[in-house]
Amino acid sequence: MRMIRLGILGSGTGSNMLALLEAIRAGNLKAEIVVVMSDVADAKILEHARNAGIAAEWIDCLGYANRFPEEAQRQTALRLLDAGVDLVCLAGFMRLIKPVFLSMYADRVLNIHPSLLPKFPGMKAWKQALEAGETEAGCTVHFVDAGMDTGPIILQAKVPVHADDDEHCLHQRIQQQEHLIYPQAVRLMAVRLGFPLWWWWITDQWADHR
Ligand code: GRF
Repeated sequence: MRMIRLGILGSGTGSNMLALLEAIRAGNLKAEIVVVMSDVADAKILEHARNAGIAAEWIDCLGYANRFPEEAQRQTALRLLDAGVDLVCLAGFMRLIKPVFLSMYADRVLNIHPSLLPKFPGMKAWKQALEAGETEAGCTVHFVDAGMDTGPIILQAKVPVHADDDEHCLHQRIQQQEHLIYPQAVRLMAVRLGFPLWWWWITDQWADHR
């Protein structure tokens, strides 16, 4: 029985990638991160991957600053398939995924978003929550569809918004929850995709008693 193989796409700091890696190292998530890809050549997420001995690869978006052209999407999905990736996790990936990619990974692309979707899709969701005067914020793991932060929700976590919160501290509070629910959501997906938890439970028990 092999573990579920993850491919992670991110454009930034990679704290969610590190949280998934930590959960794996702690034995709380039976998964393997096989490749980390980024559209930003010097993104921290790639550095973290390299430090962990994980394949770290740049996505060539053919000179477009914000678009993710179809050909680049096709090449990226092909690369993930070639690496044997079962589940794609977007973690701060700043370009929209299109049907050409989704058709190759149907119902197998997840995203983490820093709001209680469907509220506040799009950029800087924590800032949107502050500006709207919300008393509660949070984060969501959802399936990715061709819209922006619109796919079916898998898990959410709430955090309070305090009167003296600024953008930075609210985002940090939300991220602490992101780092908990992303590994949980991947665990749920592993079961859904036929990587049974009971197998690892028995294997761990057996290893403990040797
Ligand atoms: C997270 O806040 C996530 O919700 C959003 O982008 C940020 C990525 O952070 N989609 P990191 O790169 O995982 O630290």
